[in-house]
Amino acid sequence: MHVSYNQLEGEQGRRQDNRKELMYSRCVLALATLATMLLTAMAVYNLLTPRESRFHPVPSSGQRLPKTESCSDPCQIVVVESIPEGLVFNSSVTHPSIFQAWLSLMAEAQSSIDISSFYWTLTNKDTGTQEPTAYPGETILKALGELSGKLSVRIAVNLPQATQPKEDLQLLTDSGAEVRTVNMRKLTSGVLHTKFWVIDKKHVYIGSANMDWRSLTQVKELGAVIYNCSCLAADLGKIFEAYWFLGESQSIPSPWPNSFSTLYNMDTPLQLPLNGTPSDVYLTSSPPSLCAAGRTPDLRSILSVIEDAQSFVYIAVMNYLPTMEFSHPKKYWSDIDNQLRRVAYEKRVRVRLLISCWASSQPVMIPFLRSLASVYEPKSKLDIQVRLFVVPASPKQKEIPFARVNHNKYMVTDKIAYIGTSNWSGDYFVHTAGSALVVNQTAQSQSTEPTVQSQLQAVFERDWSSDYSTPLTQYSDLKDFC
Ligand SMILES: *[C@@H]1O[C@H](CO)[C@@H](O)[C@H](O)[C@H]1NC(C)=O
Ligand SMILES: *[C@@H]1O[C@H](CO)[C@@H](O)[C@H](O)[C@H]1NC(C)=O
Ligand SMILES: *[C@@H]1O[C@H](CO)[C@@H](O)[C@H](O)[C@H]1NC(C)=O
Ligand SMILES: *[C@@H]1O[C@H](CO)[C@@H](O)[C@H](O)[C@H]1NC(C)=O
Repeated sequence: MHVSYNQLEGEQGRRQDNRKELMYSRCVLALATLATMLLTAMAVYNLLTPRESRFHPVPSSGQRLPKTESCSDPCQIVVVESIPEGLVFNSSVTHPSIFQAWLSLMAEAQSSIDISSFYWTLTNKDTGTQEPTAYPGETILKALGELSGKLSVRIAVNLPQATQPKEDLQLLTDSGAEVRTVNMRKLTSGVLHTKFWVIDKKHVYIGSANMDWRSLTQVKELGAVIYNCSCLAADLGKIFEAYWFLGESQSIPSPWPNSFSTLYNMDTPLQLPLNGTPSDVYLTSSPPSLCAAGRTPDLRSILSVIEDAQSFVYIAVMNYLPTMEFSHPKKYWSDIDNQLRRVAYEKRVRVRLLISCWASSQPVMIPFLRSLASVYEPKSKLDIQVRLFVVPASPKQKEIPFARVNHNKYMVTDKIAYIGTSNWSGDYFVHTAGSALVVNQTAQSQSTEPTVQSQLQAVFERDWSSDYSTPLTQYSDLKDFC
């Protein structure tokens, strides 16, 4: 700019006798050149700058980013649960059922239903146990089949193994749904383990329940439904589109095209009202190879939520192992384990793990849990405790395979609610596709509505103090409980 200006000045000085027209035309030429240079520079800048950093300058360490992205949708979040038949708590803490939530999502649907899923066994045909409690699952399948003829129904599912039933998917395909199978075994040596729904690009469900009739009546599950929340639904939709893309390409793009990238992550969460309470929210994805630009990998989120806790970390997961449980040769994996021990020691944070115990629990889980639980010494303010949760089964219920278990996958700290879809062992963060919803409402302590954090804390405390959970002591033997 300076060069051009000086040149213009020089021209004027040397040729004062020049006609005005000549000066005028040179001026125009110079200005035109300037404008072209500017436009080119802008275009190059746009090409070279990743999408998210155009809106959010690179953070200096520890500094909160200026948050320009917010959402004014009237988002309504509902914590939902499946409580297995016969499980009774002495508690007023109850939530609507996942069955009701799925029914109401389907009732809302006007144009599209996108579902990410691990496997489909919504009817009782798979076990041949003639269970009346299969009715809710069968109802969901029937309703979804009816909608498949009327709206766009897309299902991304992990490539079924030869032994896995395919009747439900066949029924849905025949009814007009589009199904794509994702061969995660080939892509990442994992599975597609994610369970979420996106309705009309407006409402979402995410949680632990599989598309399995048992997930509605025989397995304990926890999730969240968020209604009227287009901005969050659009972001979860990007994760769905990634699975949908993989179902077709059967190879992982690197980098992912821009349409899959997100502005919302642990550094720049989406700001939106949840039940009227201003909230910071983001969605995670795993494994990292499935995270487009801007997406927080699930493990990073878990580690940061634990790190951020001031007084407690409560974790309810089915499986907890500091190993890559499906790896051969065996591999130790202690990212989460280390983080829990670290905050227990460095910050005196109270850590509670509520882990599931059932017929299929791996015995090797117990010594590792016992090791964690040994970090307990009130005098030194070390306070990690572990309990095993057992869903009791009558002789008849025992006949149902892969049922009667606490399948929850959530974490609640004094600040954050985290609702995920993954078991907690290395494989789920390194190889397996999963996703989680992270809600931060700490800025709003005076809100009249209960926060998601307070609701999850109440669920955890209900379960922890119930007769169904047993402290893991020195003498715990898996056979005694499960
Ligand atoms: C979603 O918004 C619609 C239209 O404003 C409203 O009728 C409906 O009750 C809302 N749903 C929920 C669950 O808040
Ligand atoms: C979680 O782990 C258990 C035990 O390894 C496994 O059976 C289950 O498929 C895993 N995933 C789900 C469905 O949560
Ligand atoms: C939660 O939000 C508060 C206030 O916006 C922020 O200071 C804090 O870092 C957030 N915590 C996490 C874990 O994102
Ligand atoms: C509920 O309370 C009754 C009476 O105190 C007790 O016998 C029962 O074991 C409790 N059940 C649970 C699930 O905690």
